[in-house]
Amino acid sequence: MQLYYPPGCKDRVAPFEALFDMTPCLERPEHIVGFYLVFERDVLRLCHDDDDKGVSISLAEIDKRATRDLELARACGLSRHAPCTVLDAMAGWGIDGLTLHRLGCKVTCLEQSSVAWALLHNLFERADASDVPLHRTDAWCWLEQSGESFQVVYLDPMFPERRKKALPGKRIQYLAQLVPGLEHELGDWLNAARSMATSRVVLKRRLHDPEIDNPDWCINGRSVRYDVYRSGQQ
Ligand SMILES: C[S@@+](CC[C@H](N)C(=O)[O-])C[C@H]1O[C@@H](n2cnc3c(N)ncnc32)[C@H](O)[C@@H]1O
Repeated sequence: MQLYYPPGCKDRVAPFEALFDMTPCLERPEHIVGFYLVFERDVLRLCHDDDDKGVSISLAEIDKRATRDLELARACGLSRHAPCTVLDAMAGWGIDGLTLHRLGCKVTCLEQSSVAWALLHNLFERADASDVPLHRTDAWCWLEQSGESFQVVYLDPMFPERRKKALPGKRIQYLAQLVPGLEHELGDWLNAARSMATSRVVLKRRLHDPEIDNPDWCINGRSVRYDVYRSGQQ
């Protein structure tokens, strides 16, 4: 994917070439087809040929979420006194992962798409959260092979497409066009995650999506639901 940047930022965008298989370009052509990235004032944003404003994540939004997203915090079982380790196995834009980091968790993020990983990397850098390991990898293999364990394994796969209902937000629409669907059944993901989690697995779903494999309990938000499964190690 092409990455455009303004004059004077060559050094800042150079790492993208090596790390993310992207080609930084100074000149933005008048007509671009499909998705492209823009790096401006330290922020990387994902744009499209009919949307040059594009989308990015602001730190103010994360700070707001960290004070308001009580459902996410409850689902992950956070307590003020005991910071917990969380594997955000499908980190996407990094909104949930960074929110959990702001809430005091020791987070590790996995993301398979190089574009999403670049955006994630930029967000965590801006947030001064470079202590968070961000792995560009297939979480399925990582869960099987890494040998690590986390108190909480958090799964937020792309929601399946809906018929006729309102479209999801632009960020999720864009991700859905860029990343492939899940190769394995959600039940299999839960089993793999449960063998790595020492406390619980949290699966984010749309509010009215069917439950998978009888969660131990569910926490409802306004439009999403967090299904919580006790880990296989308890
Ligand atoms: C709905 S998004 C996650 C959004 C995220 N929770 C946030 O707050 O921004 C789902 C992400 O999971 C990633 N994903 C799907 N399968 C994956 C896999 N096998 N390994 C790693 N990441 C995966 C997709 O690339 C996509 O970016």
